[in-house]
Amino acid sequence: GRPLHELASASGRFYGAAALLREVRPDSPVRALLQRDCGLLVPEVELNWDHLAQPADHLRMEEYAAHARDMGKPLHGHTLLWHRSVPAWAQELLRTAPDWGIVAAHIRSTIRRYGQGIAYWEVVNEPIDTGYRPDGLRGSLFLEAFGPDYIRRALEEAAAAAPAAKLLINEFSLDYDIPVERERRRHLLRLLERLLKAGVPLHGLGVQGHLDLQKRPFSARVFEAFLAEVAGMGLDIVITELDVREADLIQPPQVRDRLVAEHAKAYLDVALDQPATKGVITWGITDRHSWLELGEADLARFPGAWQDGTSPGLNRGLPFDSDLRAKPMYYALAAAF
Ligand code: XIL
Repeated sequence: GRPLHELASASGRFYGAAALLREVRPDSPVRALLQRDCGLLVPEVELNWDHLAQPADHLRMEEYAAHARDMGKPLHGHTLLWHRSVPAWAQELLRTAPDWGIVAAHIRSTIRRYGQGIAYWEVVNEPIDTGYRPDGLRGSLFLEAFGPDYIRRALEEAAAAAPAAKLLINEFSLDYDIPVERERRRHLLRLLERLLKAGVPLHGLGVQGHLDLQKRPFSARVFEAFLAEVAGMGLDIVITELDVREADLIQPPQVRDRLVAEHAKAYLDVALDQPATKGVITWGITDRHSWLELGEADLARFPGAWQDGTSPGLNRGLPFDSDLRAKPMYYALAAAF
């Protein structure tokens, strides 16, 4: 069949995947998959602030950018401000002597150095956290240091440095019809509204799309209504981190793969039915490396899983299996585009 990014671009969309530096190196067998199927690449961690904390760290990101150039693939900007990726020295300063200049310098220098050809920047990652404040903003060190206004300031900083790029807020757990996710969607929509009303340069929403077969129900109607509200504000939508966490590891792999693919397809059908959805990114491309690698606790729940010879330690939630063969999840993406 045709590569996923070609299928996506037939309807004006892009497809890409997150990958680690070692996966885009010429000696990596994963590189061929990325080369064939992806229209863009996402540094999985390499662009994060804590991965650019020291001058020497930049060698890794420079190398990443060089490989992407050789492959002819533009990058997607993940992510400028994330509470979980602040270098220790900056955490210390933000706690003791908050100075916007620290944040501004990081945003400006990162964009100046790597922004060439980046169409979308995820400026603020994961700003929502229910149950902390009435406005649903996460009690991050950014919020403690600068108040809720840090989001506007970050977007304005990014806009000044990358006037042609589209600027996103990126958020997780927006997918299911369960109370906590309903709350998260509600708070996020209000945040987007406030920012747009104040004329802040915000061009889209990144919906992470970490699907989870342990979480139910997925309601097409509810997700569709949410995306319609976002689109109604004139914002782009990008599905930025699609993958599927499994629920039942002792099923045969064929069954597991079918459940993963069916869920991804149902989700993508809704997402891609919305014209504002501009692209889909999977958070990895092969089960050989996924951040969903299962921990002891997961495995303890399924004592039989180790015995069926299917590498149960690997979640099967990405397009290719750990032997780099296309799985039903791959064909679900192809069919959805
Ligand atoms: C994960 C990476 O995949 C891991 O390699 C890293 O150790 C931790 O972060 N939401 C995000 C991503 O925005 O940056 C996270 O990526 C997954 C959840």
